[in-house]
Amino acid sequence: MNPDIRNIVILTGAGISAESGLATFRGPDGLWEGHRVEDVCTPEALSRDPLLVHRFYDERRAKLTEVVPNPAHEALAMLDHAWPGDLLIVTQNVDDLHERAGARRLIHMHGELRSALCAACGKAMPWEKALPSGSICDGCGKAALRPDIVFFGEMPYQMDAIDTALRRADMFVSIGTSGAVYPAAGFVQTAAHVGARTLELNLDPSAGSIYFEETRLGAASLLVPEMVRDLLA
Ligand code: OAD
Repeated sequence: MNPDIRNIVILTGAGISAESGLATFRGPDGLWEGHRVEDVCTPEALSRDPLLVHRFYDERRAKLTEVVPNPAHEALAMLDHAWPGDLLIVTQNVDDLHERAGARRLIHMHGELRSALCAACGKAMPWEKALPSGSICDGCGKAALRPDIVFFGEMPYQMDAIDTALRRADMFVSIGTSGAVYPAAGFVQTAAHVGARTLELNLDPSAGSIYFEETRLGAASLLVPEMVRDLLA
């Protein structure tokens, strides 16, 4: 283990789950599973067409039962268990593949498919099945449950904890994200500002590649286990 590296923050995006069979957000056609992001991932879309938005996330939630973690999720879970210093995996993904691989030090900054959120009282609750529009919150009793997804224009989860970890980081790694969506796209600059080593693992150079000290291009299922082996060597 490199003795200079003690505190690690790892940001993951849709690319880490691609080899498990989950579509990335920005496919070659610019669509997410055939939809424009503005049609399924904004508060306006939810009020304009709740049936479409609920159905869209119901389909994504159902798809989780058909996929399993890949070697990249497994390697990060192994690192989480073995790493003696601080470590935080911050995922933009709403799938549950990191936790199914065994990762524990994990934040879902953009929410989770397997969670429902009450738009009236703010209570979040585990949710496995379809979530029809108008479902009742078991906290306040209102028919206000929605997918627990952070839509564009809403505040991502646990930003204070993420910012604290970034400011203490000796190493920041970004895996499988296009760097198109803030605030996650700006994490590399915060980490670089405090002197952390910055490493990007991605299939193609991301929008923020210039901010990283090092970029390794390739499939996450190959690059992530390699990086974990190096870190634990
Ligand atoms: P994107 O779809 O924008 O980017 C996925 C990135 O993964 C691209 O840069 C690909 O080159 C890369 N990639 C694809 N396959 C890969 C593989 N096998 N190994 C390594 N890299 C691979 O997804 P995100 O950056 O995660 O927000 O998108 C960020 C946010 O935009 C999402 O969290 C979502 C979306 O709108 C919300 O849902 C709020």
